[in-house]
Amino acid sequence: MMEIEKKQDVIILAIESSCDETAAAVVRNGREVLSNIISSQIELHKLFGGVVPEIASRKHIEKINQVIDEALSEAKMTLDDIDAIAVTYGPGLVGALLVGVAQAKALAFASGKPLVGVHHIEGHISANYIEHKDLEPPFLCLVASGGHSHLVMVKDYGHYEIIGRTRDDAAGEAFDKVARAIGLGYPGGPKIDRLSKEGNPHAIEFPRARIADAPDDFSFSGLKSAVLNYLNHCEMKGTEVNKADVAASFQEAVIDVLTTHSMEVANRYGVKKFAIAGGVASNSSLRTRMAQACQNNKIEFFYPSPVLCTDNAAMIGAAGYYDYMRGIRDGWDLNAIPNLKIGTRNEIGR
Ligand code: KG4
Ligand code: ZN
Repeated sequence: MMEIEKKQDVIILAIESSCDETAAAVVRNGREVLSNIISSQIELHKLFGGVVPEIASRKHIEKINQVIDEALSEAKMTLDDIDAIAVTYGPGLVGALLVGVAQAKALAFASGKPLVGVHHIEGHISANYIEHKDLEPPFLCLVASGGHSHLVMVKDYGHYEIIGRTRDDAAGEAFDKVARAIGLGYPGGPKIDRLSKEGNPHAIEFPRARIADAPDDFSFSGLKSAVLNYLNHCEMKGTEVNKADVAASFQEAVIDVLTTHSMEVANRYGVKKFAIAGGVASNSSLRTRMAQACQNNKIEFFYPSPVLCTDNAAMIGAAGYYDYMRGIRDGWDLNAIPNLKIGTRNEIGR
């Protein structure tokens, strides 16, 4: 009897190390965060203007035990209380992913608990399950991060269809590159977000790209080049650059494209629910504009709080819970897959 009662709750220990955050979390039943520890390496990578993969791996190995210990103790749990260990195994930086995967394997082996490999982007999408306890598929999700700009149809837990993707730079990558060009440093997104509040979003008309034969896809490299050309032009003519106007006008162009595409797809597919996810989803103007657009189109809007938009392990615990409940288990051969495709767990059927 005691045993059955104990099994009513499923507790996941989740580990995330795909880029520059070493993170661990304890999540109950996929939706309730008992702890969410994030050790950010931003201060270190700032010195180089972006993430240095070798340094990221080294820092992960240094921090990971401490972060996991903290996650367990904040949740007032030990490994005995955990039902499964979930870990990001791709996509991401291979050396960074390997640290989390090796750690998760060691813990699973030592404790005799099941191991569940989780897709990082499926994690980002699942951050919405934590924030919105009633949200269930199907829904459309815009995933905008440093590595991805995807419009994903979430058909069911673990069933995804990519409707649109970026042809070149991801939205977050464009934010980072433009921020570097105007001397704001890394990471660019939050800095452009802040500076934009002081600028005029209509001061400069930057292009809004559309790919003729693939209207649902994104392209941000033309926009990035237009900003660089504008800056060069100003320098050659000796005119002073208003950084706040450049930031605001660039951000306006990104938001315009993301919002327009998302609403077009949502209406074409007749979706009733739309969510955003990934680091760029923490952008304050994007959140306001998407909320407005959804209201105009009579679509229910979902967005995670900023700390769940950028990389964290709670979102991996949420996605890991649904993978675990679908019976997904990994063996000791689990590897890091830097270019892992979304929804592959289903095709493999493991
Ligand atoms: O999801 P994330 O933490 O890591 C990846 O999986 O890539 O996303 C990081 C990206 C970076 O490019 C960062 O500049 C961007 O998200 N970002 C933002 C904001 N906060 C983070 N972009 C725009 N506005 C923000 N407030
Ligand atoms: Zn991410």
